[in-house]
Amino acid sequence: HKKSAPVVAIDGPSGAGKSTVSKTLATAIEAAYLDTGSMYRAATLAVIKAGVDPSQTAQVTKTVKNAKLEFGTTPEDPFTRLDGEDAGLAIRGDDVTKAVSAVAGNKTVRKFLIEEQRRLIAEAKNGIVVEGRDIVEVVAPDADVKVYLTADPAVRAGRRASEFGADTKATAKDIQRRDTADSKTTKPLEVPAGATVIDSTDLPIVEVVAKILALLNNRDIND
Ligand code: DC
Repeated sequence: HKKSAPVVAIDGPSGAGKSTVSKTLATAIEAAYLDTGSMYRAATLAVIKAGVDPSQTAQVTKTVKNAKLEFGTTPEDPFTRLDGEDAGLAIRGDDVTKAVSAVAGNKTVRKFLIEEQRRLIAEAKNGIVVEGRDIVEVVAPDADVKVYLTADPAVRAGRRASEFGADTKATAKDIQRRDTADSKTTKPLEVPAGATVIDSTDLPIVEVVAKILALLNNRDIND
């Protein structure tokens, strides 16, 4: 990627503010945007729709490979489609959220989706902001800017709860359960090597975005 087309990798646990920050940043620098969590969610929706048990490795692999998954990479409309239909709402549902860690733990599914992620990154001619759990260490270790975005667990739960109009206590439990389940596959609670840590507990979105823009600019000066 050229200087004018940076790859920005943003990892971190649920509720740290990754999506809002990544979309805002992508819009500001006129780059593409990729939410890899949506990809694991879409794969999970396909598994649920097919009536397959998320723990049935071979069946899950087959279902995901046969599903028609499409992902939009413009920050204004990052659509997710399953078999030609918009799945943006369905992938945020409770049943998907409960099953997604199991599907994301399937090695073949990961390999398949990571290939697709790398293809979408290579295709982004004006640069791309990629958010997830393993972007810095696995998907795009050559990214131009690497960020680990985190926040206190209580703040993460509060944000997720207000985003979905849900109860904070229940959301806190759910986030903790998912962090633990995801830790078997990725390392959502560890800072990846080479990443700059940004703690958004007391920082408004715009300030987090400004910090990442500064990282991008410093790199242009130092190069
Ligand atoms: O960011 P999210 O909550 O939408 O992600 C959904 C799930 O997908 C999350 O519980 C872990 C998994 N995931 C992953 O394993 N690797 C990624 N790069 C992104 C998400």
